[in-house]
Amino acid sequence: MISSDASVEALHERVRQLKKEMNAIILAHYYTLPEIQQAADVVGDSLALARAAEGTGADVIVFAGVYFMAETAAILNPGKLVLMPDNRAGCPLADSCPPETFRAFKAEHPGALVITYINSSVEIKAESDIVCTSSNAEKIVSQIPEDREIIFGPDRNLGSYVMKKLGREMILWQGCCYVHDAYRWEIIRETIEKHPGAKFIAHPECREEVLCRSDFVGSTGALLDYSEKTDAQVMIVATEPGILYEMERRSPEKTFLPAPKDPFSPSSVCTQMKQNTLEKLCECMERREPRIFVDEALRENALKPIRRMLEMS
Ligand code: 13P
Ligand code: SF4
Repeated sequence: MISSDASVEALHERVRQLKKEMNAIILAHYYTLPEIQQAADVVGDSLALARAAEGTGADVIVFAGVYFMAETAAILNPGKLVLMPDNRAGCPLADSCPPETFRAFKAEHPGALVITYINSSVEIKAESDIVCTSSNAEKIVSQIPEDREIIFGPDRNLGSYVMKKLGREMILWQGCCYVHDAYRWEIIRETIEKHPGAKFIAHPECREEVLCRSDFVGSTGALLDYSEKTDAQVMIVATEPGILYEMERRSPEKTFLPAPKDPFSPSSVCTQMKQNTLEKLCECMERREPRIFVDEALRENALKPIRRMLEMS
């Protein structure tokens, strides 16, 4: 537990020292705790972080996010040490797609092109033709010939959003993110009615009933850009509330309200992202573990669809 401002600053200082000694880069997702975002060299959405991992000259990548994100960094950097503050920080959406079941699902649709969301394991990526993130899914699907059948997984909400935007069918894996799937229009509507003039913005992992009423839909990076550029002074935000730290940092004069969640749903906080604490960040750099290992044959097969994504987006 962090006890005082002095110990927080001491941890930040130690992280800075270790970063220099190790020639390390710290990558953090927008959903992590504010003190982790402050310690990071790059804070971004999944696509920005994958790009940062691909282009880094650092010897060590310290990834404060969830497992599939650090694993993607390891796939892109076979010779490098990739560390996570806590390697138990998994993504339940990625875990909802076991390789055996996914292979059987694919076998039901021979010939279909497989596009998978980056929120998936190395095994699933190795089974895919193209990977995508929430910021490029629409762009990637739009480049596939109309007559080609597409399997899209594991997030059904992102898949249906892209289907609706492009007016084309896809075969969807029925996974979802418990954080985003917890938003319900009926509950959010009350908050919107109390704030006339506010803009309502949402991540595409939310349900269609929420997305179709949003003023803007986008990845965490796109939501941030929108929040900076819009003239609106108040925004109601339907995504993991960790993003509010960066929204408020960029636009301190604006008001950001987390969209209320369904009281019967488990949480609108990604508890996995919050497993990345400053103490664990410091400790993983001191101990040079936990380290992310990826089987080489799987890595080579998973790299191809990730590279395809980077070329197509
Ligand atoms: P982004 O692509 O917006 O970073 O989404 C990642 C994620 O896990 C959202 O739940
Ligand atoms: Fe996974 Fe949802 Fe957490 Fe994103 S917010 S890492 S999709 S559980």
